[in-house]
Amino acid sequence: MLLKTALLLVPVAHVLMLDNGLLRTPPMGWLAWERFRCNTNCDEDPKNCISEWLFMEMADRLVQDGWRDLGYVYLNIDDCWIGGRDASGRLVPDAKRFPHGIAFLADYAHSLGLKLGIYEDMGKLTCMGYPGTTLDKVVQDAQTFAEWKVDMLKLDGCYSTPEERAEGYPKMAAALNATGRPIAFSCSWPAYEGGLPPAVNYSLLAEICNLWRNYDDIQDSWDSVLSILDWFMQHQDILQPVAGPGHWNDPDMLLIGNFGLSLEQAQAQMALWTILAAPLFMSTDLRTMSVQNMDILQNPLIIKINQDPLGIQGRRIRKEKSYIEVFMRPLSNEASALVFFSRRTDMPYRYQSSLAQLNFNRSMTYEAEDVYSGDIISGLRGETNFTVIINPSGVVMWYLYPIKNLEMSQQ
Ligand code: GLA
Repeated sequence: MLLKTALLLVPVAHVLMLDNGLLRTPPMGWLAWERFRCNTNCDEDPKNCISEWLFMEMADRLVQDGWRDLGYVYLNIDDCWIGGRDASGRLVPDAKRFPHGIAFLADYAHSLGLKLGIYEDMGKLTCMGYPGTTLDKVVQDAQTFAEWKVDMLKLDGCYSTPEERAEGYPKMAAALNATGRPIAFSCSWPAYEGGLPPAVNYSLLAEICNLWRNYDDIQDSWDSVLSILDWFMQHQDILQPVAGPGHWNDPDMLLIGNFGLSLEQAQAQMALWTILAAPLFMSTDLRTMSVQNMDILQNPLIIKINQDPLGIQGRRIRKEKSYIEVFMRPLSNEASALVFFSRRTDMPYRYQSSLAQLNFNRSMTYEAEDVYSGDIISGLRGETNFTVIINPSGVVMWYLYPIKNLEMSQQ
């Protein structure tokens, strides 16, 4: 009987699995929500309202300012694009703000080497009150997105019951799969169930979603960054193992370039999100970004670390005196990323440690590249004491790699 049940379960699991081979490294791109919200006032604020024009402007910036070539290829629409449904029940965009339709926008993105993401909600209404995709509409909506040549779907969870979500998210994964178009699937499901087992089944999520929001929405403030970081760290034993190539935890968008973070805090968010192997979705006005913020977001070494092919999420490995924390993410080629983070609010703090204290192999010699300054720190043996100077609410981030002993390897 057991065997029979098991055999019966196998094909079902296959049908429900999202098998798109996408996002072997965390997605990178631009997402409208945090910065542009549900501004639909195109009459008075035409340059900032949610409209095809805004997305085309951002697409142009992604290309012209070098973002695309660094990997920021997703151009993602969030809430407030929907106009309603036509007589056949098919979704249509707001006619005034998206007069050429979503297929046009997808073509525009593709012509520039970008990918287009869209947003829907597994409930009666989206969070801002636009029509959602109820259970009877899931298949039709997946087909519509595929026909439009959309490349990613963020499926939110407002105005839905736990039962509808439990049925709806796997159903959407299967429906996207059935379209034959590879569409990355971003699921807000766990965030609506409190983000933790047993209410959240992370093994199932890893099979049906490419990324998922675990926790609250980010807001444009340092407090918000800290509250998200704290929650992820409090639950890192649960969350760290469930991330990997094709399926990522999503602590939400990057705030860099907006109004709430100092430059130190912007560097810190970028470093900490990179340790978390998080999606790098900017949500900012790319038309007005400062050079300093661009430097943070376009730092080639930090992008390389974020995009490491092993796709292992990092962990907090030290918490000292309530204000110094050390994070480590293992990388390919025996390298690792280290982030030294200070919560102090007074002055730069001199933190002293050694690689042995941080549990690195004592018999190896390492070299580190400071990700933000470019400085090289060489000759780091296990016992070598080093000091990093960490600014208030800032980080020092190292890319650390072992130096192979040539004589040894030649013998
Ligand atoms: C929810 C999501 C946000 C955003 C808004 C849109 O709050 O978590 O990321 O999509 O809805 O209304």
